[in-house]
Amino acid sequence: MERKLRIGVFGGARGNSMIQVLLHHPEAELVAVCDKYQPLLDRAKKSAEEAGLSIEVFNNFEDFLAYDMDAVVLANYATEHATYAIRCLKAGKHVMSEVLPSETMAQAVELIETVEETGLVYTYAENYCYMDLTFEMWRKYKEGAIGDVTYAECEYVHDCAACWVDITYGDPAHWRNHLCPTFYCTHSLGPIMTITGRRPVQVVGFENPPIDEFYKLGHAGGHASGIEMVTLDNGAIVKSIHGPLKLEPSHTDYKVYATKGYLGTADGKVRLYREGPNTCQGENTYYAPEKFVSADLAKNSGIASHGGSDFYPTHFFIEKILGKPDGKWAIDVYQAVDMGICGILAFRSILNGNKPMRVPNLRVKEERDEWRNDNACTNATVAGDQVLPCSSYPEKPLTEEEAAANRAKWLANHPAE
Ligand SMILES: NC(=O)c1ccc[n+]([C@@H]2O[C@H](COP(=O)([O-])OP(=O)(O)OC[C@H]3O[C@@H](n4cnc5c(N)ncnc54)[C@H](O)[C@@H]3O)[C@@H](O)[C@H]2O)c1
Repeated sequence: MERKLRIGVFGGARGNSMIQVLLHHPEAELVAVCDKYQPLLDRAKKSAEEAGLSIEVFNNFEDFLAYDMDAVVLANYATEHATYAIRCLKAGKHVMSEVLPSETMAQAVELIETVEETGLVYTYAENYCYMDLTFEMWRKYKEGAIGDVTYAECEYVHDCAACWVDITYGDPAHWRNHLCPTFYCTHSLGPIMTITGRRPVQVVGFENPPIDEFYKLGHAGGHASGIEMVTLDNGAIVKSIHGPLKLEPSHTDYKVYATKGYLGTADGKVRLYREGPNTCQGENTYYAPEKFVSADLAKNSGIASHGGSDFYPTHFFIEKILGKPDGKWAIDVYQAVDMGICGILAFRSILNGNKPMRVPNLRVKEERDEWRNDNACTNATVAGDQVLPCSSYPEKPLTEEEAAANRAKWLANHPAE
């Protein structure tokens, strides 16, 4: 039997989802996990033992990277994916990156160029593109069921206030506490890009009002929800909204209007409208789709989280590396950057009075130079003198006492620290 692909996971929190897929995948094996938080390493080791496997665990990235692996899954901090992806690629490892692809425009350019130079596989784990409903919309659209997109809407609404201290460790410096409102945009925009296969050419950003509750939880900008109005390369407009709004349970919603019909999510079903031979007359179908790619493997994996999507990013990464047909569903570095930079540029738009921003096509080498030194982001260590605030509203950082109270709350729930 051929040797299985040897894959390591960097970041054991969200990374546990990929760990579970890898522990049971027929063509790959989990060989290592890296995290600086020991309880997550203990959990990974225990899961591996339960699956009859033995893995190495590392608490520092350098030792992890030096280990014998073909590929790395990056489930580390959302703002640090590009820098670590570049290091992994340069060390000869294929990379799958969690969301987002890059923190800055300069990193997006460098990431693309590193993928091109190394010739290694880079895939983007935007699992929301593979939910049962969005993946079916992608398939139907690709079959030509509704024609060419004319307008689309997408939303990812997730308040997170109740778990905010937990997922930021009560640390004001955690990446979630300096997110600008449009950064985390690919759970909403991503599926529209994959379904339609279109590229963004312009974005206008908007910021809803900041939320008092989030200042107290540690977000210096009040963690407002963000909106991107994106123009696609055929002129169609997409309205994308994401972030904390008051509606439970958290939810997603996607709508694609096109020249011959409509595809959308509707109460756990796909709604397909197709116009018939007579204009303004057509048929509506509502259905719960069956999985259509590696269905048995996906179902037997037991990984059904995030709308049935969480098996697929890792599976498609493996299949892409192995050159197998399912690999065609993997999201490549160009699509990843298309999705991610809409959020980065939308924030520039917000800071400039909602000015329209051209979205460069970074597949084209000549379009890269304008952005290769653009380090602007909300993280001063990365941005230097290009640092941005994390809201267009005045920031309200916590006092030391307030920050210490949040941290104490987190520590009370994590006695191992
Ligand atoms: N696609 C999804 O549905 C989904 C859901 C949740 C999170 N995410 C993404 O997953 C990623 C991780 O998010 P999270 O929720 O696990 O929280 P997180 O970002 O707080 O956790 C990251 C983990 O990586 C570890 N880590 C980071 N840098 C490290 C370093 N230099 N050395 C050792 N360990 C390091 C941390 O200790 C932590 O356990 C983020 O990119 C987030 O956007 C995606």
